[in-house]
Amino acid sequence: MSTSTAPTSSDASDLRVGVIGLGFAGTTHLDAFTALPGATVVALSGQEPARLAELAESRGVPETYADWEDLVARDDLDIVSIGVPNALHHPIAVAALRSGKHVFCEKPLATTADLAAEMVEAATAADRVLEVAYNHRRRADVAYLARYLAEEPIGRVYHSRASWLRRQGVPGIDSWFTNKAAAGGGPLIDLGSHVLDIALSLLGEPRVTHVSAVAYNELGRAGRGGSSGGGPVSSRSTHAFDVEDFASALLRFEDGGSLHLEASWASYSKAHEDISVELLGSEGGVRLHVDNYNTEGTVTIYRDVAGAPTIERPAVQVPAGHHQSVIAEFLDTIRAGETAGGELRFAGHHGEYALHRSRVIDAAYASAAAGHELEVPA
Ligand SMILES: NC(=O)c1ccc[n+]([C@@H]2O[C@H](COP(=O)([O-])OP(=O)(O)OC[C@H]3O[C@@H](n4cnc5c(N)ncnc54)[C@H](O)[C@@H]3O)[C@@H](O)[C@H]2O)c1
Repeated sequence: MSTSTAPTSSDASDLRVGVIGLGFAGTTHLDAFTALPGATVVALSGQEPARLAELAESRGVPETYADWEDLVARDDLDIVSIGVPNALHHPIAVAALRSGKHVFCEKPLATTADLAAEMVEAATAADRVLEVAYNHRRRADVAYLARYLAEEPIGRVYHSRASWLRRQGVPGIDSWFTNKAAAGGGPLIDLGSHVLDIALSLLGEPRVTHVSAVAYNELGRAGRGGSSGGGPVSSRSTHAFDVEDFASALLRFEDGGSLHLEASWASYSKAHEDISVELLGSEGGVRLHVDNYNTEGTVTIYRDVAGAPTIERPAVQVPAGHHQSVIAEFLDTIRAGETAGGELRFAGHHGEYALHRSRVIDAAYASAAAGHELEVPA
């Protein structure tokens, strides 16, 4: 059922957007599309009626829907933007793509690689853009490192480390995040997918061929490590808490390189929230280290100058708003494709790179369950 509020002004050439989800992700999408030129949010969906009404009113969105199906059924939308629990990404994206809409989807692409592959197939068949909110790679410090590596190569990068570790941060009581069916996994798919994305993009997208992983749940299920101070996360939840709270994986690349990937929602290790991506090259090394969301001093460069080891910390400021950057790129991709012509105008933008991340994470969970290294399907 739809509810109307006052219509907003929109240019006829604007891309018409429907946003689904009212939590952190949906609100961030809504604000990013609203702030960017050339797009107008004309529909909003979510299951919290008061918040739905408040967001529609304050952002001037004319139509609202409780259920995503009613929003996707509209035939006047160019874009559907998905900010809902992971298990809903697949049905919403496939329905939207099959009805000719471009899709902006939160990470991870889906709860499993098979479902992610179906989304990429739907995007390819319809030749619509499927972009995923791997927003952290658009951070100013990650962009700085990408430029630095292009201009000042560090030799052969043989090993890297990528981790997102929380001392205390199992998502809240009653949250879908801790349920395998709703989320697909714990911190590895939730936080690890972001640092995996940063590392693979900085490394130039090497193909991951093998993974050996372990996954544990020693704290969360015992009621420790909750984000609001550590109440009994599992016993009060309406969802089964059946995902890991810590995972660690060694990935091997086709080019002989390797990556150690680690993610935790709770562990007695770091002080609070600790994000790190480190590349070890034969002629230098670089590190991104975000300690409790600090916004400067996050980049370190290690080299030898005249035979002596040096450490450089360039002054890079990290403004907020990297979701807006990825959405701006998404809109540019659509506009460029609309004018390009050709058979598959959006080739390369059908979610392929996000599918590879899903395959790696899937294989990591399977490896942890099997207790040995596994191949990552191509
Ligand atoms: N990229 C990032 O930095 C980032 C940060 C947080 C979350 N996320 C991702 O965003 C997604 C959502 O996370 P969140 O924290 O915003 O979740 P949330 O639980 O806060 O919000 C989920 C929203 O989905 C809506 N929803 C659920 N079922 C629905 C239905 N049938 N029809 C319409 N709406 C429905 C709910 O009403 C709610 O508004 C997840 O995939 C998560 O991994 C990404």
